[in-house]
Amino acid sequence: MSTRWDTPEVAGGFDAYDDLTERTLGYPAVFRALRLGDPDVRAVLDFGCGPGKVAERVVTGYGKEVIAVDGSAPMLEIAKSTRADPRIDYRLVRDARLPFLADDAIDMAMSCYVFINIGSVDVISSIVQEVYRVLRPGGRYAILDTNPDTTGVEFTTFRSGDPGRRYERGEQRTVLLRQRTGGDMTLLDFHWPKEVYRQVLTDAGFGSIEMHEPILTNPLDRPGAVDPSRGRCWVNEQVQPPFLIVVGEK
Ligand SMILES: C[S@@+](CC[C@H](N)C(=O)[O-])C[C@H]1O[C@@H](n2cnc3c(N)ncnc32)[C@H](O)[C@@H]1O
Repeated sequence: MSTRWDTPEVAGGFDAYDDLTERTLGYPAVFRALRLGDPDVRAVLDFGCGPGKVAERVVTGYGKEVIAVDGSAPMLEIAKSTRADPRIDYRLVRDARLPFLADDAIDMAMSCYVFINIGSVDVISSIVQEVYRVLRPGGRYAILDTNPDTTGVEFTTFRSGDPGRRYERGEQRTVLLRQRTGGDMTLLDFHWPKEVYRQVLTDAGFGSIEMHEPILTNPLDRPGAVDPSRGRCWVNEQVQPPFLIVVGEK
């Protein structure tokens, strides 16, 4: 069994999750890696865009065009109805194929919290190969996932995996997303060690592979980002990296 992203319940629940930790430490690292401040970067592919939160941030924060694709129709319905923008082209994809994109058509690409939701390395590899095809030479692909080396750690808004448990490659983990309204959304994801990311990128042809594991260096620099209702908030993020960002260049 795995999380059914193609159901309205899961899509709606994920949309309601306040991605505070992700937008503090995850997405900004992806945007830096993809050099979104560079005017030569025009078209960005968001593979596994979900409800469009990240695509919307790329458009409003950087003025880029985004091709935002996902395999879940309910996710795309939320994206189109709540985060429509003429600069975002939302598309439903099947079998990791992007037939509407020519070779070398895209400047930069990202997949945020997608590979942890795929239980097969072959499927992950198909996506990476297709992204490689549509990226221009010199284009970069950033993959953002929860960090396989910090499973079980209680972060401010989520916990991925059970405390004290060691996970094997491809094993399922229980994920708790802390909802602002109280309670948790429970998901099941898959454990992929760092070498899997390096291997699928290398096999597809990507080079200059980098791994980033940001931690919170100064929480006082982020007023408003701390939820005072949680006593433990922003403690573990200062010593343990919640996320892994893997970047490859074509
Ligand atoms: C956790 S959500 C993340 C959404 C978005 N990237 C974000 O960070 O907010 C994972 C998304 O990946 C999509 N996904 C998973 N496997 C996929 C596949 N093989 N092809 C396309 N989309 C996929 C799911 O439908 C879901 O919308």
